[in-house]
Amino acid sequence: MLKTDHGKGSAGGDASENKSFPKSKALHERACETLAGGVSSQFRAAGAPHPMFYVRAEGAQIWDADDNALLDFTLSQGPCILGHSHPELTGRVNESLKVGQLFAGQHMDELELAEAVKACVPAAERVRFAVSGSEAAHALLRLARYVTGRPKFIKFIGHYHGWLDNVSFSINPPRDETNAPPRPVAWSGGVPAALADDVIVLPWNDLALVEEAMATHGTQIAAIITEPVMCNQGCIEPLPGFLEGLSRLCDEHGSALIFDEIITGFRLGASGAQGHFGVTPDMALFGKALGAGFPLAALVGREKFMAPLANGEVYHAGTLNASNASIAAGRAVIDVMGRNNGEGYRHIRRLGCRMRDGIAAIGDQGRLDVRVQGPGPMFHMGFSERARATSYDHVLDYDKAMYGRFCAGMLARGVRLIERGLWYVSLAHTDEDIDHALATVREVLEEIGH
Ligand SMILES: Cc1ncc(COP(=O)(O)O)c(C=O)c1O
Repeated sequence: MLKTDHGKGSAGGDASENKSFPKSKALHERACETLAGGVSSQFRAAGAPHPMFYVRAEGAQIWDADDNALLDFTLSQGPCILGHSHPELTGRVNESLKVGQLFAGQHMDELELAEAVKACVPAAERVRFAVSGSEAAHALLRLARYVTGRPKFIKFIGHYHGWLDNVSFSINPPRDETNAPPRPVAWSGGVPAALADDVIVLPWNDLALVEEAMATHGTQIAAIITEPVMCNQGCIEPLPGFLEGLSRLCDEHGSALIFDEIITGFRLGASGAQGHFGVTPDMALFGKALGAGFPLAALVGREKFMAPLANGEVYHAGTLNASNASIAAGRAVIDVMGRNNGEGYRHIRRLGCRMRDGIAAIGDQGRLDVRVQGPGPMFHMGFSERARATSYDHVLDYDKAMYGRFCAGMLARGVRLIERGLWYVSLAHTDEDIDHALATVREVLEEIGH
């Protein structure tokens, strides 16, 4: 594991010293003249005090344009499970590039990565590689519709399955749009209204409502798609029996169960959430951690659902699929995380749980209602009177402005967080990093009124 140089940029400075970001600010202003909104993904526009510019990253740290060293709990929105620039990752990627970058034909590493995914993931009787999670979700819904001959799918309120049109509904709707029976709320301008006819949105973790929807619309429902942990809103774990119930309902009604494992995959363990919870879906999609920062996603499924890809009745394509660098990255992740019988997964779980429980303990000692929840390798932090969130409605209770102040305080002290409350821990984090981050959490909470 790589050593972290706490609070020191190459220009020096210490952790208690407030960081400032004048170069990032100026660069962002310049970028706005050319890049739309100054960014290449809408999620990057949210960064406070303004989107940041970065110049390098190593291990658990990332350096910004002002040469501030930041301890990184974003893992760049999740992918950098090995930390930044892990030597085995970059070594294997560099090696792969010596023989070419994209064959647009089959290669041995691609086959071996597919075999490794198949060996790890229960639902992966067949595998296809893609570049992003968004397109993988799109491909699996297409397959579900073709195999079942049905038009509609169930999607849960607050779940995110990428930015493409068919799933761009009820990702973060206002509270008055979440009451039963909720209607699909377009997430973005430009999403065709007609697509809403084929989406049934439901609150998550409420099996009775899914049961009711399946009883009413079952013959029309191609698939239920779900994050097996509601990572994108509150990092909420499934209530006991919920995933099992979805699986049973899909079996009873002839629909496909799709697990979106873009966040849980190769993070909760090599077998993903499906191994962790012991529920095998019909199909699943992987990305983020699998590619460790390189463009790699996998769509996997039972033979029955993947057969139309094999015989060409359903199309899935992509010029850049299975490029040498991405495949080499995927192989490095599976090897490095899986080494010594999955030591990497145990490491991120242990440190994540330490961080999560450490924040909870600090929270218990003060005035603010600090809440943490989630399995450990990723977890959510927020401020709410409610002790535990189990649904999207509860997530709306979090005091977002307070968390924004908390994040700004952490950033000013050199800890980089995702502003919607999700924390990620990587293989490169150490116990010392957790101690340092916990001390910083204590300081910042005190500052904002704990
Ligand atoms: C659960 C989930 N599914 C799908 C996606 C989309 O993946 P990508 O950004 O690779 O298109 C994301 C991205 O954050 C995600 O969190």
